[in-house]
Amino acid sequence: MARFSDEFLSELRMRCDIEQIISSYVPLRRRGKNLVGLCPFHNEKTPSFTVYPETESFYCFGCAAGGEVISFIRRIENLDYVEAVRFLCERAGMNMPEDGYDSSLAQKRKRMYEINREAARFFHEYLFSPEGKAGLDYYKSRGYSKKTLVRFGMGYAPNDWRKLLNHMKDKGYSYEELYDANLANKSEKNGKVNFYENFRNRVMVPLIDPRGNVVAFGGRVLDDSKPKYVNTSDTLVYKKSLGVFGLNFAKNSKEKSLILVEGYMDAISLHQAGFDNAIACLGTALTSEMAHLLSRYTDKIILSYDADEAGQKATQRAIGVFSSIGMKLNVVNLTGGKDPDEILRKFGPERFRNLIDGASNDIEYELFKVRKDYDLETADGKMKYLTKACEILAGTGDSIAQDIYASKLAEELDVEKQTISVRIGQLKRKRMNVERKRKFSELEQKAVSQARNEAMKSGTTVRVLKAQKRLLALLFGNPDFLPLSEGKITQEDFPDGICGTLYRLISDKIKNGESLELGCFAEMLGDSEMSTLVGIIRSADGLTSTKKEYSDCINVILEEKNKEKNVSAGQMNDEEFSKAMAEFKKKKSN
Ligand code: GTP
Ligand code: MN
Repeated sequence: MARFSDEFLSELRMRCDIEQIISSYVPLRRRGKNLVGLCPFHNEKTPSFTVYPETESFYCFGCAAGGEVISFIRRIENLDYVEAVRFLCERAGMNMPEDGYDSSLAQKRKRMYEINREAARFFHEYLFSPEGKAGLDYYKSRGYSKKTLVRFGMGYAPNDWRKLLNHMKDKGYSYEELYDANLANKSEKNGKVNFYENFRNRVMVPLIDPRGNVVAFGGRVLDDSKPKYVNTSDTLVYKKSLGVFGLNFAKNSKEKSLILVEGYMDAISLHQAGFDNAIACLGTALTSEMAHLLSRYTDKIILSYDADEAGQKATQRAIGVFSSIGMKLNVVNLTGGKDPDEILRKFGPERFRNLIDGASNDIEYELFKVRKDYDLETADGKMKYLTKACEILAGTGDSIAQDIYASKLAEELDVEKQTISVRIGQLKRKRMNVERKRKFSELEQKAVSQARNEAMKSGTTVRVLKAQKRLLALLFGNPDFLPLSEGKITQEDFPDGICGTLYRLISDKIKNGESLELGCFAEMLGDSEMSTLVGIIRSADGLTSTKKEYSDCINVILEEKNKEKNVSAGQMNDEEFSKAMAEFKKKKSN
């Protein structure tokens, strides 16, 4: 694999301020020289994600994700290395050096986008052909206008096993490629592979990402048969858990919020009715990764899931996920219909507008839900409701909201506001203690078991693992230490493979007089190696480095290596045996 020149990478880094880039994904607060925020790579309530502008790096103490600006983009945008560089180039207004890097993955992706686009065109044209009448009738019966069908590129998949496949083959795409794109399935019989269509006799809706690429499809049956929907599963260009339908349009809406619904048919109906900020997730539970993605487009979600029990359960979950990352949330209480689509069809857009306007925020919604369970006419009911309500308020991180709702509760239940505030304060402290303890023991356990796992994997002790990491940290910070280990220790002496690789890379760079900036490692290291490297560097923060310690680390590693070599006396030849005896005696007399 050819590589980008150090000059190019350093120019790119100069133009891509890590602080600015990461802040566009994660709200950061300054803490001394560094910035902290909630980690976008795992779910957390207290910030352990840190950005170090000085070394242009980031590291999460909760999940150990770390790296520099390119690895950040690689992870958060789900791109490969070259794509991440291109992404940053575009952002920085720089030209990509187009010569000789391995772009096979990027090539494959590009072809898959073309395949999806061509398939979407095929389904769309088929819908309006004479053979597509059944599909068109179905859409009409649901009230979709021609304009909507065209705007969303909706289509119809023939009731056939090969029609799309043949069409695509004529266009120069192989069955294997169609299989990879999840447009074809395959079966094997008597050693012969047979390809057939994944979507048959279904109305088809393409999922278009915010950059305008067709990345997936949803297909619905025309009647009540099962399964109702077939959706594209994960491919090279699509991750189901991160798929958002309608974001390509909704991101341009004048509205500042996004309306999140369960089904993409709901989303399409909403757009047709003028709600151009509607989006849908594709039938998967909301994850914090998804919430982070949405937080880049809006800071307020209007949640309008189905009115049934499953929808309400999903609502509860979503409230937790969104509030854990500090996103504002309103919950629509759907009344009069099972989902937004039905409300629109039965009552029209005005009604849905009213529901949105009357939507309660997440706290109101939760209070409303528990209030229903108690009889507020009785003292007992009042007390129980108050207890529950205080718990809900203590659970939100928003102190202004706490104050407002404490006042409301005081008025509603006719008790002193002071009493309520004190109670909330107590509960909050209790929660914080529990959370702190939980987090601490979690981190502790993780560190211990990680060290142990690593040790078991490489058949070595925690002490050596520490020594090799410390050695790398020292070398990274003090290239002039290299001569101390040169000739004494090589990549192979490191019990841990990643550490060995890192040692070789760092020492090669030092020897060649190349830059040790993190960005210059990004291409050669995968996500986990990069995280290890940054973790190692971070672990050296605040510690002083001495040559003596460096030498000690070398000795610990070598000691272990020699121990490994020790064989039992029975396997030694005479010479080895007498040497071992001599050493044994020497040690004893010391
Ligand atoms: P309609 O009956 O067409 O109005 O469907 P809907 O839009 O109301 O969707 P529904 O609430 O039934 O489901 C919400 C979403 O879950 C859909 O958009 C699908 O993406 C997904 N989904 C529903 N049923 C299935 C299924 O049988 N298989 C798969 N893979 N996904 C489904
Ligand atoms: Mn529905």
